Amino acid sequence: MVGATGAVGSTILGVMRERAFPADEIVPFASERSAGRTLDYGDRDLTVAALSDAAIQGFDLALFSAGSAISADWAPKFSDAGAVVVDNSSQWRMHEDVPLVVAEVNAQALEDHRGIVANPNCTTMQTVMALGPILQEVGIERVIMASYQAVSGTGQKAVDELRRQSEAVIGAKEVPAPAVYPHQIAFNVLPQVETFKEGDDYTTEERKCMGETRKILGRDDVGVSATCARVPVYTGHSVAANVQTREPISPDECRALLASAPGVVVVDDPANGVYPTALDVTGRDDVLVGRIRSDPSHERCLNLWIVGDNLRKGAATNAVQVAELLNVRGLLRAARAA
Ligand SMILES: NC(=O)c1ccc[n+]([C@@H]2O[C@H](COP(=O)([O-])OP(=O)(O)OC[C@H]3O[C@@H](n4cnc5c(N)ncnc54)[C@H](OP(=O)(O)O)[C@@H]3O)[C@@H](O)[C@H]2O)c1
Repeated sequence: MVGATGAVGSTILGVMRERAFPADEIVPFASERSAGRTLDYGDRDLTVAALSDAAIQGFDLALFSAGSAISADWAPKFSDAGAVVVDNSSQWRMHEDVPLVVAEVNAQALEDHRGIVANPNCTTMQTVMALGPILQEVGIERVIMASYQAVSGTGQKAVDELRRQSEAVIGAKEVPAPAVYPHQIAFNVLPQVETFKEGDDYTTEERKCMGETRKILGRDDVGVSATCARVPVYTGHSVAANVQTREPISPDECRALLASAPGVVVVDDPANGVYPTALDVTGRDDVLVGRIRSDPSHERCLNLWIVGDNLRKGAATNAVQVAELLNVRGLLRAARAA
């Protein structure tokens, strides 16, 4: 486990424990700063190690959540040493020979792995959990999505920034200058998630949502348009998606379809104030979908509200599910060689 002390890494360890992940040995890797720290893993303590060529030998699986630069350097090294890497960063997601997998949507893509499997971006992950069954049933022509993303998606420093700024505003004190985001996040909404690469008027997060959605669905002909916003919420991303289907599907049919989809729970009784919120999904693995309704401006469009815990299904839970699938399907290197 590389990046074991971070927001995603610590959630991965928690999910592995909850699901009794079958491992003889688990080694948590982090930066030199954390080496020697112990992490609680239920019946045992795990001691954090720093990465080195000698320390990475002998593993079947390596779960990465330490950012793109570390994945660029170290994922190939783990893979060369015989492990299958499940990577949470964006480093390998769009590489042609790296499967990008959501366990419930395209697990078959794992069969073609060559040592590295990528875990999708959190916003994309929860959105395709709803889009996958709709694509199978009636086809999809186009998706227009707008996200409302929690600060834990940026990591622990962003959570601390929101808390400090919020405390200052409520206490009528001077608000600390933003350090993680370009503007104050407390009591604000920022129409920027990640960065604008030179010359692009979409952010890198928006590009990920558009490219990764098509790759996971396996359909280059699905149009995707994304606007991603950061909101002052600790955990839980929300997505408003407008889905234009190939064949018509009513809101009731869509509710029934999604209610039977693995990992999706329909929460949809708006007249009684029942719909998914970020707080409802925090700590849960399911993706919650509600506000399913026809678009009055187009006869083959539905509007959906899709909410997921960005640290769990959006990152850790899917990574552990993928690791489980690699194991039970005999796709680890040792099993393939046998
Ligand atoms: N947060 C989310 O919702 C989310 C969702 C999907 C994907 N991701 C992706 O997951 C990755 C991690 O995100 P995060 O939010 O968990 O970040 P984070 O809280 O900042 O954690 C970063 C982790 O990387 C480790 N690290 C930093 N430098 C290292 C080095 N030189 N060698 C080894 N380990 C090092 C850190 O160890 P120290 O504690 O020692 O610094 C820490 O364990 C990113 O690629 C992110 O894009 C995040």
